Amino acid sequence: MYTLTQRKIKVVMLKPKPSIETIQPYQGGKPIEEVQRELGITDIIKLASNENSLGPSPLALQAIAERAGQVHLYPDGNAFYLKNDLAAHLGISAEHLILGNGSNDVLQLIAEAYVAPDDEVIYAAGAFVVYSLVTKLCSATAVVVPMQHDTHDLSAMTAAITDKTKVIFVANPNNPTGTMVTADETAAFMEQVPDDVLVVFDEAYYEYVLRSDYPQTLPYVLAGRNFIITRTFSKIYGLAGLRIGYGIAPPALIETLNRVRQPFNCSLVGQAAARAALKDTAHVKKSQTSNIAGKAFLYEAFDDMGFRYTETEGNFIMLHLAQLGTDIADGLLQKGIIVRPIGGYGYPNAIRVTIGTQQENERFVRALRGNL
Ligand SMILES: Cc1ncc(COP(=O)(O)O)c(C=O)c1O
Repeated sequence: MYTLTQRKIKVVMLKPKPSIETIQPYQGGKPIEEVQRELGITDIIKLASNENSLGPSPLALQAIAERAGQVHLYPDGNAFYLKNDLAAHLGISAEHLILGNGSNDVLQLIAEAYVAPDDEVIYAAGAFVVYSLVTKLCSATAVVVPMQHDTHDLSAMTAAITDKTKVIFVANPNNPTGTMVTADETAAFMEQVPDDVLVVFDEAYYEYVLRSDYPQTLPYVLAGRNFIITRTFSKIYGLAGLRIGYGIAPPALIETLNRVRQPFNCSLVGQAAARAALKDTAHVKKSQTSNIAGKAFLYEAFDDMGFRYTETEGNFIMLHLAQLGTDIADGLLQKGIIVRPIGGYGYPNAIRVTIGTQQENERFVRALRGNL
């Protein structure tokens, strides 16, 4: 039998592959429990991770309770029923769908399946951070294109395409800026993108967008372009804790993604809750209405305080400050309000705040007035 005393062991610090050395672990919004533990505050509100402030749909809660007794069983790895429901909801076939442990999982599957170390991946500076993480994970070259007015500059992104470009990520709307590219911009972009480049439109906040010039991207998928849409149950459907997201793509791409997908990447309870949430159109409507009202309330308060903000299409607002976002976020934290400093996205003098319930928004505004 091998014992530790058989030879002298030298503790060797293993180096990860070079591209991983530059990765900073993803920093999510602080969990409520952590703030409770660290600051001893109990009455905490979290406006830091763009969750649905109204909570989960009551129908989803019921579905969760109904399935709780079955969690000793593996889920359906192919998520037959959820995919069928989603296919009907979207007017496509189930072969166009892949499910993920959150849409982040799908973003990572895309990179793992398609991006090799010699490839280039294009995304915008100030775009959702996961594109950078998965590019590094695959040891590929990131081509980071500046934004214009806090918005993806699709012309500049087209100009950045080379023979080595494999994937282009576009967050629409983008987190943390809240801005979107329009249907016309997208159409012009798709005219220019070579057919062998994979375009990924990350539409995590799709259901919140109400503008009529928001691009409907499903036709690119149905036309058989190398195009993947990612969406999620984490935002308007209120199921962030259950981690269910999905990708919509031509069946040949889905088949490839399924080769790298973990066998049971979506939980049994998550699948059931997502099916129920999808059916709960009343909850979605209520969430949209609440978001519109909250946005108007916050815009008015920010205008009144003389703050500049970037107009948002999502359920969060980027607020520009005269001082470091981390300072304001720390001050708010002391008052039990968790918001997100976004220096890591290239906006050191800004915070991102999730649009909450009316009560939460009022408390945030009161605290902000007291902070400055
Ligand atoms: C633009 C964008 N894409 C994707 C995600 C990932 O969401 P999830 O993995 O919960 O589906 C987020 C979450 O904040 C996001 O803001």
